[in-house]
Parts: sequence; C-alpha cells; structure tokens
Amino acid sequence: MDSFIIRGGARLKGKIEISGSKNSALPILAVGLMTDEKVTLHGVPRLSDIDSMLKLVGELGCHVYRHEPRTKTVGDGPDLNGPLDLELRDEKTSEARYDIVKTMRASICVLGPLLAKRGRAIVSIPGGCAIGDRPVDLHTRGLEKLGAEFRYENGNIVGSVPKGRLKGTRMYLGGAQGPTVLGTINVMCAAALAEGETVLVGAACEPEVTDCGNLLNKMGAKITGHGSPEIRIEGVDKLHGAEHRIIPDRIECGTFMIAAAISNGELELKNCNLDHLIAVVDRLEEVGVKIERQNGTIFVNASRRINPIEMTTQPYPGFPTDIQAQLMAYLAIGDGMSVITERIFPDRFLHVGELNRMGARIRKEGPTAIVHGVQQLQGAAVMASDLRASAALVLAALAAKGTTRIDRVYHIDRGYEKIEQKLAAVGADIERVKGERAVA
Ligand code: EPZ
Repeated sequence: MDSFIIRGGARLKGKIEISGSKNSALPILAVGLMTDEKVTLHGVPRLSDIDSMLKLVGELGCHVYRHEPRTKTVGDGPDLNGPLDLELRDEKTSEARYDIVKTMRASICVLGPLLAKRGRAIVSIPGGCAIGDRPVDLHTRGLEKLGAEFRYENGNIVGSVPKGRLKGTRMYLGGAQGPTVLGTINVMCAAALAEGETVLVGAACEPEVTDCGNLLNKMGAKITGHGSPEIRIEGVDKLHGAEHRIIPDRIECGTFMIAAAISNGELELKNCNLDHLIAVVDRLEEVGVKIERQNGTIFVNASRRINPIEMTTQPYPGFPTDIQAQLMAYLAIGDGMSVITERIFPDRFLHVGELNRMGARIRKEGPTAIVHGVQQLQGAAVMASDLRASAALVLAALAAKGTTRIDRVYHIDRGYEKIEQKLAAVGADIERVKGERAVA
C-alpha cells in the first residue's frame, strides 16, 4: 500500500488543470448500458473507481475503448485522457458481482439502466462504508414505483420487471436525509426508457444529475427539469448513441481552492465551473480567501487571517459533504472557534482523530465538530480512512511544520487524478512511496 510523504510549509503557486468529475462519470458509464449504439465520452478521469466501473460495464457486455490523448481542440475540444467509447455488444450477463460492488458503491448505478433495457438485474447489496450507513432503499423504492420487483437473495438484490416494461408515474423520491444523488440518477435513467411520463418530486439537484440528464437527452431521452427538485421524463422506446463531455470535478476544484488557501499560496485553477461551487465560495470568502473568476478559470489567493465560521453540509446548492473534511483542515489553523455540522452523513468525521494527531483541537459532538483554531499543525504519521478524509490530511500536511506520512493513500487514488503530480507541479514537497517501503 502506497503512502505520501509531505514536507509542509511550501507556498503553492501556479496552474492546476481540474479533471472531469468522478461522480458524474461513474453513473454516466452505466448509461452506456442503455443503448446498442456507441457512446463517446470526453474528460473521463483516470481513477481507480473509474477502472472498477469500466470493469463492471465490461462484464455486463459493454466493449470499452480508450483513444489516444487528444491535445488539440478538435470537435468537442482537447481530451488529455483520450476519449472513451462504450459500445454494448452482448446482454448475456446482468449481474454486478460482490467483488466489484464491495470496492465501489457507485456500482448500484447499473440497476436502473439494466432493468429499463433488459428487464432484469442482479446487483450485490452495497454494505456500509467508512462515511457511515449508506442504504439503497430509495433507489429500489423508486424503481418499484416504476413497476420493478425485487427480492433479496444471498447478499444480492435480484430485480425483474414482471410486466415486461417499466411504466411512468409520479413519485416522491426524498428520504430522511433529503434527496439522493445516485438514487435520482438511477430512477431517472430507468424512467427514460419507461412507458409514459414519470415525475420525480424531491429529486437531487446536484450538477452530476444534470450532466447525466443532458447526456440522456443527447441520446434521445425526453427529460426536463433535471437540476431542479422536480424532474419530468417522457419515456421513449429506444436510446441512440451520443458524444458527451463530463463536467469538471467540483470537489477536486474545491479541494485545490483550499490547498491554495491553506498553503498561503496563489493558484490558477483551469477547467472549472464556479457556479457549481457557490456555497463553497461563500464560506471561503467568509473565512477571508480571495476568489476571482475569468471564464473557466478561477484565481484563488489566501488571506493572512483565517476567520472562524459556521458551516453546515447540505444537498446542492448547499455546501457539499464531500468538501467538509477539507474545510475542517483549513479551519483547524484558524483564528477562533468554527462550527461544522454534517447533515448528509452525520458520522463522516473519521478525519477528526487524525487531524488531532497533527495538533488540531477539534471536538466532535454528535453530527457537529467544534474546531478551535491553533497557530500551527505539526507533521505526524496519519492514516487515510476514506477519500475526502484523506484529501483533508494532504491539505493539513501542506500547512504543517515538519514531515507527515499518510498511509493507505489508495483511498485518494479512488477520486483524485494524479494528485501528487498536480501538487508537486505548483511547489508542494510531496512524494509517493511504494508498498513495503511505505509501511516499514
Ligand atoms: C453521492 O453518493 C456521491 N457519490 C458521494 O460522494 C456524495 O458524498 C453523496 O452523493 C452526497 O452528495 C457518487 O456520486 C459516486 P446520496 P450517494 O444517496 O448518491 C441517504 C465522494 O467522496 N440515503 O445522495 O450514494 C444517505 O445515507 C462520495 O466522492 C438513504 O437513506 O449519496 C445519505 O444520508 C462519497 N437511502 C443521503 O441519503 C438511499 O437509498 C444522501 O446520500 C440513498 C441514500
């Protein structure tokens, strides 16, 4: 298992290119299962979670082909990762095996597409994960309202469509913690091929839902209102091929905004959509960070004083839970007491203990963390526990005095493309050490 060694104190300065969104790309790869024609995607990041999803759609019959990197602007623009083609070639296997699902919960995204196109699906039940209990009841409930039936057998969800085709209806999709992002996408996908009209009330409004709806419309779906709490879907008989560019990763962008701020640096972030980060900009400006936008580029400058703030994570357009840990790392070196409340995943605080090992003073009370700012964090040996908690540790290490070793960085590799290369290119002192040397 690899580790990062980070010597803190460098001021980051320079340009970073933001990658395509992981959380948009993952469900969109499952959309490739909904048509017999070719779907070409640009901006799919190279990440271990993407590799897992490609393996899964491959097992479900999609031929996957990654083209050579495209550096010049042709047609749909440059694509440094190479465009990716998905082409469904056979529908014999409709099972998402435990081996894949256990590594990546987003595997559940194949459920709606498979039921809509093939009328059958077996998906291993995703278990709990480091950020808390993550049920999929809203996914199955929404699909049941469209006419799917489920039984639970040997750890699997076994789905079928007894009437042959799903049927549109009006439904409420929200749950106790608010809307569900992947649940909305799953049901929206299924409804795109259902008979008649579906109205999803209480839908998630995240940009990743909008991106998926936009691709489906390019493929011939009739979806309106995606990006709002009420989505209308007029089902069609068939979807065709399409070409699509994945939106920029708003979580990666927010993480690098905080990297600029916490290192007292100055970063130019390219390929961003600041509209997707409005609540993050609001909170960072309150802390004192200076943020400017020019077209698709964001300029971030740290401030000398880090004002304490209150922040609560909320569904979009509120502050994203996926940037809660990173903001906490920043506020840990603030000038007073900040209060962070987690409303999406109330147990998503595994980073608190590790940040405290680095000298932070953070106390957790239920779904709230009280952060008493300290003057300086210190380097320490810490452990990555989940993707965003790991990103918070990287940020803390950039600001800390001395050397930090972060073990188990495979968590980071799930969601941040070439993070150490991107940070090193703007002046961070960060090194990846491989396997045995890392744990020695
Ligand atoms: C997506 O997960 C993201 N994952 C998560 O990003 C993100 O934290 C989350 O949305 C919230 O923004 C991907 O896009 C691959 P939810 P998702 O369903 O869709 C409860 C990251 O770090 N709920 O919107 O699975 C749930 O427990 C990751 O990149 C139910 O009760 O999250 C939570 O409290 C991690 N029943 C709330 O809803 C359900 O059936 C919102 O979760 C589904 C969800």
